[in-house]
Amino acid sequence: MSGKFYVTTPIYYVNDKPHIGHAYTTILADVLASFHRSLGDDTYFLTGTDEHGQKVENAAAKNGILPQQHADETVVRFQELWKKLGITNDDFIRTTEERHKSIVRQIMQTLYDRGEIYKAEYTGWYCVGCERYFTEKDLVEGKCPDCGREVSALKESNYFFRMSKYQDWLIDYIKTHPEFIQPAFRANETLGFLKQPLADLCVSRPKARLSWGIELPFDSEYVCYVWFDALINYISAVGYLKDDKEFARRWPASCQLIGKDILTTHSVYWPTMLKAMGVELPRTIFAHGWWLTGNTKMSKSLGNVVNPMDMIGLVGVDAFRYFLMSEMTLGNDASFTQEALLRRYNSDLANDLGNLLSRVVKLTLRAGGVIPAPGEPTGNEEEFNAAVAEAVNGMRSCLENMKLDQGIASVLNAVRAGNRYVEQCAPWAMAKNNDTAHLNTVLYTVAANLRKLAVLLAPVMPGKMAELQRVLGGGEELLTIGDLASGSFADPAGRTVIESDPLFPRIQIEAESTPEVPKKEKKEKKAAPVQEPAELVTIDQFCKVKLKTAKVVAAEKLEGADKLLKLRIDVGEAEPRPLVAGVAKYYTPEQIIGKTIVIVSNLQPATIRGAESRGMLLAAKAGKDLRLVTVDGDIPAGADIG
Ligand code: MSP
Repeated sequence: MSGKFYVTTPIYYVNDKPHIGHAYTTILADVLASFHRSLGDDTYFLTGTDEHGQKVENAAAKNGILPQQHADETVVRFQELWKKLGITNDDFIRTTEERHKSIVRQIMQTLYDRGEIYKAEYTGWYCVGCERYFTEKDLVEGKCPDCGREVSALKESNYFFRMSKYQDWLIDYIKTHPEFIQPAFRANETLGFLKQPLADLCVSRPKARLSWGIELPFDSEYVCYVWFDALINYISAVGYLKDDKEFARRWPASCQLIGKDILTTHSVYWPTMLKAMGVELPRTIFAHGWWLTGNTKMSKSLGNVVNPMDMIGLVGVDAFRYFLMSEMTLGNDASFTQEALLRRYNSDLANDLGNLLSRVVKLTLRAGGVIPAPGEPTGNEEEFNAAVAEAVNGMRSCLENMKLDQGIASVLNAVRAGNRYVEQCAPWAMAKNNDTAHLNTVLYTVAANLRKLAVLLAPVMPGKMAELQRVLGGGEELLTIGDLASGSFADPAGRTVIESDPLFPRIQIEAESTPEVPKKEKKEKKAAPVQEPAELVTIDQFCKVKLKTAKVVAAEKLEGADKLLKLRIDVGEAEPRPLVAGVAKYYTPEQIIGKTIVIVSNLQPATIRGAESRGMLLAAKAGKDLRLVTVDGDIPAGADIG
């Protein structure tokens, strides 16, 4: 074992069904846990549900059932979703379980006995939604400073935890432990909050007002404040006051994931509670941002909350996990739209990763089905191998620095280098010319590198990456990042590849526009001729557009569209591609077949009038005339243009 890793998610309220925010944190924890397992760390992953308090009591009352029954019914939705999402948590804690409640009671009693908890009269304001007390000066325009809702005036006797006495200690701790609250700007936010005098924390609720909670061991008229109860789950689940050996093995947590809205409870209440108990603090509390629907906050009232189950139905579990992990820069908010999900699916997974796999599988099958040992170097290997090495090294440091999106981007970068490598080498031509020495090198290089990249992506897409390994003849063996690092990575040569369906079949997106040459806007006749300044592009921008030669091997009219032809074009790949072009008014199918044309080969795939189109042909248009751009002389299909 190289080290230990204990990761937690917030425990979710059982007042409603799980949404994308819950799914996100749990997937993130799962990915981190899987990475650490893969590195050989003694890993433990905890999630669960927060089942006491006003929110749950209200939700149960609304349904006319008892809170426990409500919790029992709702918790299943979380457990089912985690199962569906392939979540590998080691434990699932419910705060209504006796194993948790007994620890909360013990902690309460000890703190009470030690004078850390005392009884006093409270006068102030209370927000039911947030279940928090506020002083007059905390309020913003007379409303709750957190959620903006109405607050109610309260005067009652309660029990308080002497949180205020830890204020200076906490400020000092945060300043001297930069890894404690992350990202760093959240530590500053907490320090900003701590500039005001810190009040003691009200840790009880009179049963007369709220009965759904853990009864205080020293006063049966009260229940424990839900946050005080809930935070303790992180230690009650791993043996605190029950199994010293287990507790010493797991605690302190390596990484406690939270959303930005629950920062204060985790960066102020939680550390001061632990300090009072004499328990070490977790190494890191990491606050991620929020998923927005487009640019708008998700809320039930706006009806724009994304249901993870719907998205799984659309792209599958692994692609959904991939999108969430690659799209959010940890710490910042991110935008969720179905279009963005489909776009990323088609470009990263179907076009780049899926395509590289299907190329090597098809070519290997044609060459007998067994991944060969490498032959002569082709001279093109360097860029691809370097990109793979960078991904292998980069992923580890990206993980340590919670830059998961960058780690994933480096893997995709290597996948793209792989596709470029295949295009440069043109193994189909090597096969045709019986150039086995070079062909073997290409097949081996792609298979070996793909297997490494699959190991890096396996924590994000466990199902699909296991499938990829299997297709490349890896059987059921589980390769780990530890294997990659130690160099004991199994050689793919001699393994039989398996013919299979595409790993990520392209998902058709109905496109509004056709790849026709765009019509110029009609200018007002009277307008004075103005020389529009040309919009300039940099060479890098231009180089992003991959132009290639393509030979039209088949063409037919597209039914129901008099301007469109449906072509099949050879771009030097394992199979001809479909392409829909708006040229039917200028060329008959017979006239276009056999021509070597020029296409944009890396255009997002689209579905045009029900037909798939991968690429766009180039044509010159003047007035009513249109002519295809072709090449001067003989050149193979798939040649780069630039
Ligand atoms: N029960 C408390 C946590 C107690 S932990 C000791 C709670 N539960 S919650 O169900 O309301 O929220 C759980 C998590 O979901 C929070 O971390 C919150 O930030 C997160 N999210 C809620 N909406 C979200 C998004 N739209 N996007 C990302 N995460 C969001 O708070």
